[in-house]
Amino acid sequence: MAGPRIVVVAGEDEIARACADYTCRAMERAIAERGRAHLALTGGSTPIALYRALGSAAFRDRLDWGSVDLWWGDDRFVPFDHPASNVGLVQDTLLDRDSGIAMPAGNVHPFPIPEADAAGEGPGWCATRYAEQLLAALPLDARGLPVFDLVLLGVGPDGHFLSCFPGSPLVDAPAPPVCAGVPAPTTASPHIPRVTCSPRLTENARDVLVMVAGAGKAAIVAAVLAGARDPHRYPSQLAAREGATWLLDSSAAAGLPADVRATAG
Ligand code: 6PG
Repeated sequence: MAGPRIVVVAGEDEIARACADYTCRAMERAIAERGRAHLALTGGSTPIALYRALGSAAFRDRLDWGSVDLWWGDDRFVPFDHPASNVGLVQDTLLDRDSGIAMPAGNVHPFPIPEADAAGEGPGWCATRYAEQLLAALPLDARGLPVFDLVLLGVGPDGHFLSCFPGSPLVDAPAPPVCAGVPAPTTASPHIPRVTCSPRLTENARDVLVMVAGAGKAAIVAAVLAGARDPHRYPSQLAAREGATWLLDSSAAAGLPADVRATAG
């Protein structure tokens, strides 16, 4: 089975610039072809440098941000001002007032966590409402699933992606669900309930960019990209697909066998 394109760059600064350029190209292509671009953002620490780069003078003016819709691949089920919030992370980086990005508020689509909280509902209710928003706003594929133009992803030390953790029933769940509530994970921090898009939305996306940096990820990158295929153990293998790009820094790529590294761009 054909795998992803693997690109190895020197360090985290190079990853940020390379991912910012990749993201802009994907958004430019979508806007040119369909008039709008639907981008699924990721959480964690790796994308911070990317979000700051996209908001910098080198990139912010490349895009008509009014034609970009920001979504989230997953989030922790906490208020947006909670330090663990992926929405808060984007608000403090990409959408920070210093970034100068003119993003209409109506283009920013967080999981309806405040609404769920106000209704006394949990992650499952929140995920269902978000799926309704995605189904109403995005183009749909032949199975009726929403199609993102680009899904940004990271990989957890346990091999998870989105909020699809080892052993998750989402790994091979038929779609729907488009989105799901997830109990607090035991294999990854923070141990907070989550809401997540289904992995099916990374499989049908027009483009997927996986960003991994740092020596601490070398072992999991080698297991995911060069080890035996076992998505139940390594859910992020579902993003190691043809058409996806894995952008690694040299530290994160250090555990890859020479033959896999040799194919790296
Ligand atoms: C989250 C992210 C998650 C993240 C990985 C990698 O909500 O935590 O969506 O899937 O991408 O945990 O995180 P780092 O980039 O911080 O290693």
